[in-house]
Amino acid sequence: MAHVSDLIATDISAYLKSHEHKSLLRFITCGSVDDGKSTLIGRLLYESKMLFEDQLEALEADSKKMGTQGEQLDFALLVDGLTAEREQGITIDVAYRFFSTDVRKFIVADTPGHEQYTRNMVTGASTADVAVLMVDARKGILTQTRRHSFLVSLIGIRNVIVAINKMDLVDYSEKTYNSICEDYATFARKLGIENITYIPMSAFKGDNITEPSDNTPWYHGPTLMAFLETVQIDEERLQKKPFRLPVQWVNRPNLDFRGFAGTISSGVIKAGDPIRVAPSGRTSKVARIVTADGDLEHAVAGQSVTLTLADEVDISRGDVLSGTDAPPECADQFEATIVWMHDDALLPGRGYLLKLGARTVNAQIGEVKYQVDVNSMEHLAAKQLSLNAIGVCTVSLDRQVAFDPYTENRDTGGFILIDRMTNNTVGAGMLHFALRRSQNIHLQHVDVDKAARSALKGQKACVLWFTGFSGAGKSAIANALEKRLASMGRHTYLLDGDNVRHGLNKDLGFTDADRVENIRRVGEVCKLMVDAGLIVLTAFISPFKAERRMARGLLADGEFVEVYIDTPLEIAEQRDPKGLYKKARRGELEHFTGISSPYEVPEDPEIRIDTTQLSIDDAADAVINALREKGVLPNL
Ligand code: ADX
Repeated sequence: MAHVSDLIATDISAYLKSHEHKSLLRFITCGSVDDGKSTLIGRLLYESKMLFEDQLEALEADSKKMGTQGEQLDFALLVDGLTAEREQGITIDVAYRFFSTDVRKFIVADTPGHEQYTRNMVTGASTADVAVLMVDARKGILTQTRRHSFLVSLIGIRNVIVAINKMDLVDYSEKTYNSICEDYATFARKLGIENITYIPMSAFKGDNITEPSDNTPWYHGPTLMAFLETVQIDEERLQKKPFRLPVQWVNRPNLDFRGFAGTISSGVIKAGDPIRVAPSGRTSKVARIVTADGDLEHAVAGQSVTLTLADEVDISRGDVLSGTDAPPECADQFEATIVWMHDDALLPGRGYLLKLGARTVNAQIGEVKYQVDVNSMEHLAAKQLSLNAIGVCTVSLDRQVAFDPYTENRDTGGFILIDRMTNNTVGAGMLHFALRRSQNIHLQHVDVDKAARSALKGQKACVLWFTGFSGAGKSAIANALEKRLASMGRHTYLLDGDNVRHGLNKDLGFTDADRVENIRRVGEVCKLMVDAGLIVLTAFISPFKAERRMARGLLADGEFVEVYIDTPLEIAEQRDPKGLYKKARRGELEHFTGISSPYEVPEDPEIRIDTTQLSIDDAADAVINALREKGVLPNL
């Protein structure tokens, strides 16, 4: 008899392999400790002979001592503790437990149910076939039940079991059970969950867990275990969907073999089937389906395979292979639901990396259309998303990707967002649909281009991007510099923060989100002006590394020159040319950089000017000299 703590100590994958012939069902339990979630998991492990009877009895005795009817049973302790899963920097408390019966093997994701743990739930549930929602028969449907149900529907879990638990404490009352079922059904209509099954049970006493209970003669539905053993697994359903293979890597061991490897996310493929590559649109035929155990005639969703094709087709990691009849869509702008998982809020306009299937691209969140209150499902106006917030946003990418709506395929429609600086996963999302504007807007080729316009002006266009505290001297030095450039016959334009904020950006204030948008727009304007052949000077605090980097990324190598006006905060505050520091210190000005809003010092600017040592004119000369040294301006 396998013992679960041995199992965790030994090798879980070896265990799963020993049950390879059985289908695997993944499910998630939702609810708080009080609802009996741990008791239920313990009971399932026990019933499937994964716990010894004496251990279960010991736990029950313990809990009786505490007088809590098993509510405080901490099976987590018994089965070796919650595994804190460290996924790229954020700790996600999801405990995965394994058990099996004669029919199936199971992985259950147990997630803490507190509101802060939205991200845990989203992580634990992302591959689940079934969600078991625990409801305390004495309490009925609670806000938390609604929140979990909403998340379950969002994640796209098709089967929900409403486990009406602790029936022993309501004398197995059919009436109580029926009224809870009705309550839930009324609420769940709004969610569009496909299948809902209600089971009256007592996880503690074992009613309707594996055997139909004599205490509920009025209940004729399945026991929990019977349901889990017979419900359709998502993988089986996915086999009936159109073929998708996101290419994880290209195998090219020698010149004669070129294979495209990945896990089939939906559908079935046979040797000889026509194949289409997205987003390129090229086509070919399947030559062979190669696996470690030899070639296959056909392969289905869930299998990892390497395909070789009849023709030499250009395919790279991240492309999606499909059949020719129902290919995925391709687009670079979308509407999506985003679940935010990081302490630093999601800011529209900021760049993130987006990983969809095997492809990682640059992404920007355009606008937050609304945030969803996870308790009431109401739509709330929002400009950003903070930790655990869920919102519907527009997303734009720097290139076309192949995708399916998330509701069709969780693999080709689900994505994560990654912070570019730290590489941390900061959000998860579900693609809804492509924005039509992205499909109808193409780049127009123009004959008079950047090189031609720069050449006419006899110069090399670039951006001199000044950054530093308010009062550091950015505007003054940029102004003096522009005069020098003009006298040298250069064609220039100075974009100054205070001025731009009177026009183009007069709708923006100084919250993080507004500053991001401020710099995003200025970056785009710089790009246009460089395209026009100008030497552009900008004077914005631009306090965030991410946006300075974004502006740099819009331009070609060497066109973006970051000039850090390095004036310590104390000195800028002493100068206080506009009296703003005093105001901020008096608390009359919110979000003031250096006082109540951060400034992220440039790590590696092209030019650094120490204004404590230089006058404005000397500083401008120093910039000119540095530009000559760097070849941005020609040497005399
Ligand atoms: S940025 O952070 O978005 O780059 P920007 O350079 O456009 O800022 O604007 C900064 C100028 O706005 C400052 O020089 C100052 O004159 C003015 N200002 C008004 N309120 C603030 C504030 N809360 N923080 C910083 N600057 C402010």
